[in-house]
Amino acid sequence: MAKAKTKTAYVCSDCGSEYSKWQGQCADCNGWNTITEFRLPAATVAQVEFEGYGGKRSAVQKLDEINLADLPRITTDIEEFDRVLGGGIVPGSVVLIGGHPGAGKSTLLLQTLCHLATKLDALYVTGEESLQQVALRAKRLQLPTDRLKLLSETSVESICTTAQQHKPKLLVIDSIQVMHLADISSAPGSVSQVRESAAYLTRFAKQTDTAVFMVGHVTKDGSLAGPKVLEHMIDCSIMLEGTSDSRFRTLRGIKNRFGAVNELGVFAMMEMGLREVKNPSAIFLSRAEELAAGSLVMVVWEGTRPLLVEIQALVDQSQFGHPKRVTLGLDQNRLSMLLAVLHRHAGLHLGDQDVFVNVVGGVKVLETSADLALLLAVVSSFKDRPLPRDLIAFGEVGLSGEIRPVPSGQERLQEAVKHGFKRAIVPKANVPKNGVKGMEIVGISKLSEALAVL
Ligand code: TYD
Ligand code: MG
Repeated sequence: MAKAKTKTAYVCSDCGSEYSKWQGQCADCNGWNTITEFRLPAATVAQVEFEGYGGKRSAVQKLDEINLADLPRITTDIEEFDRVLGGGIVPGSVVLIGGHPGAGKSTLLLQTLCHLATKLDALYVTGEESLQQVALRAKRLQLPTDRLKLLSETSVESICTTAQQHKPKLLVIDSIQVMHLADISSAPGSVSQVRESAAYLTRFAKQTDTAVFMVGHVTKDGSLAGPKVLEHMIDCSIMLEGTSDSRFRTLRGIKNRFGAVNELGVFAMMEMGLREVKNPSAIFLSRAEELAAGSLVMVVWEGTRPLLVEIQALVDQSQFGHPKRVTLGLDQNRLSMLLAVLHRHAGLHLGDQDVFVNVVGGVKVLETSADLALLLAVVSSFKDRPLPRDLIAFGEVGLSGEIRPVPSGQERLQEAVKHGFKRAIVPKANVPKNGVKGMEIVGISKLSEALAVL
C-alpha cells in the first residue's frame, strides 16, 4: 500500500472554512488574505488511543442493547448552569464556554469545580493564569479548596497524559486558545492549533468518559475564534455574555446535543464571584419612576421559561435623506419589515423618521413574539403618548397586519401577573378560556385593533 500523504488544506483563520486551493478572499466570511496553508500532521489525531480506562471498542450494537444505565448527569449545584446544560453535565461530553475576556468564564468554572470536587475527581488546567493566581482567587471567594486538583500546562499531550494518571471525571481547559500540540508548527491560538487541540481533547473525553469544559475567547465581532472548526466536534456550546458596565451576566446555550438550545441562565458578578439570579424577570424590569413614551414590557420565551423584558423605542424626525433604523437586542430587518406593516395596515408613515429600538438590560430577543410590543412602543413614541405602566404585550405580527398566536401564552400571562401587571394585549388565540386571575386581557387579531385599544 502506498504511504499516506501528508494532507494540505487551506483554512481561513477568521472563520475556519476549509478550501482545497488557496484563494485571496474567503467565500464564507468575505475576509481578504485570511486563508493560510495548513499541513495536517502525519499522525492524525484520529489515531491516538488512550489506554488505562478499559479502552472502548467500537463494535456494531443494536440501539436497545446499548447500556444507558451508567449515564447519570452530574449536577453542578448551580441551577442556572444546569438549566443551560440541559439538566447537568453529561459524562464524556465536551462543552465549550465562550465569552469576552473578563466575562467571568474562569470564575464560573472555578466556582463550579471547587464545589463538585468535594464529590468527584476534578482537574482544572490553567494555561493563562499561574497556579498562585488561581489559588488566590479561590481563597478570596472562600471556595472549598482542599479537593480540586490544579495543573498549569499548555501542552495538550501532557495534559492528557497527566489526566490519564489522575482519572478525573471533570476536566477544565482554560483556555483552548493557549493550548498546543507538538506536531503542529503554527502558533497557539491559530486555527490549526485550536482545531487539532480540541479534536485531541474531544477524543480523550469520548474514550475516557471524562466531561471536558473548554474555555474559548471570542473575537471582536463576538464570535468564537475559529467557530466553524469547533462546532461539529463539541457537544455543547455556551456563551457567557455581559458588558463590563453591568454586573449581570447571561449564560446562553447555542448548541446542545443533550438538551434544549437557547436556554438562558442569569448571573450577577459580585465581590464574591458569580451569584445565580433566580428571578431574572425582576432585574430586567427595574424601570424609571417617570412614565415615558415609547416604553413597554413584553414577555419573551427563553428556552423553557418566560422572561419579562422592557422594550424602548425612540422615533424622531430624520435629519438626513436616509432615515435610520437602529436596533439593539433585536433583528434590524425585522424592524424594517414591521414598519412597513405599520404603514400598509395601520396607515402610520414613518418614512421620514429615525427609529431606534432597544431591549433593556442587554437581552437579545430572537423570538417573533416581540413584534407586537415593538410596534406598540414605536407608535407610543411617535405619538408621544406613554403606555400604562401595568400593561404587557406579546404576539407575532404577520405581513398582512394579522396578529398571530405564540406558544405558551398562558405561562407568559402568569409570569406577568406574578410581577404585578394588570393589563395585557395579546393575540386572540392566546387568551385563556378561563382568563387569568387579576388580569384584564384584550385579545386582538389585527394590528389596527391593537392601535384602537390604545
Ligand atoms: P474572569 O473569570 O477572570 O473572566 P474570564 O476568565 O472570562 O476572562 O473574571 C474576571 C472579571 O470578573 C474581572 O473583571 C473582575 C470580575 N470579578 C468580580 O467582580 N468579582 C469576583 O469575585 C471575581 C472573581 C471577578
Ligand atoms: Mg479567564
